[in-house]
Amino acid sequence: MHKDIEKILFSEQDIKEKVEELGRQISGDYKNKNPILISILKGGVVFLADIIRALDIPIEIEFMGVASYGNSTKSSGVVQITKDCNIDISDRHVLIIEDIVDTGLSLNYITRYLQGKNPKSLKMCVLLDKVGAHEPDIGMAYKAFDVPNEFIVGYGLDYDEKYRNLPYIGILKKEIYQ
Ligand code: PRP
Repeated sequence: MHKDIEKILFSEQDIKEKVEELGRQISGDYKNKNPILISILKGGVVFLADIIRALDIPIEIEFMGVASYGNSTKSSGVVQITKDCNIDISDRHVLIIEDIVDTGLSLNYITRYLQGKNPKSLKMCVLLDKVGAHEPDIGMAYKAFDVPNEFIVGYGLDYDEKYRNLPYIGILKKEIYQ
């Protein structure tokens, strides 16, 4: 285990099994629908890379980037697109691939934005859900794990751009960011 990690929440094996389970579900639900999976940069990239290899149906992939600004960044509600979706999603089935829902602001914004492009369907596949940190009515069609209200890193998630490459998901030691 990395020295900066307090505790491993989900091991490589835990993640692998869950990704395979989600892959089976998504493959069944999107059979003959040729969905577009849109990964939200940067954290969602590792999850996307694994989830697409767990699918046995034709798919396309795309990327979007968003950033939040303001005093207390996450609660400002101001979200800016840093990389737009560059393909036509109108009349297509779209599945957003996101690493974590914290306050839910990013996903709310992205959902509203993409809905405006008239997809045939729009759903979310989320790796981690910080239950309690957001309104309960965020409709996640697919979710891998619930996580506590701690600083979570690994498997795509960073602190100061570090730890994204850890193969597991863990809690960062408080002394690293306090
Ligand atoms: C993280 C994460 C989500 C968002 C979740 O992204 O990847 O997109 O925050 O937080 P919210 O539910 O409170 O909006 P971040 O801005 O850290 O960028 P990154 O993915 O590039 O690390």
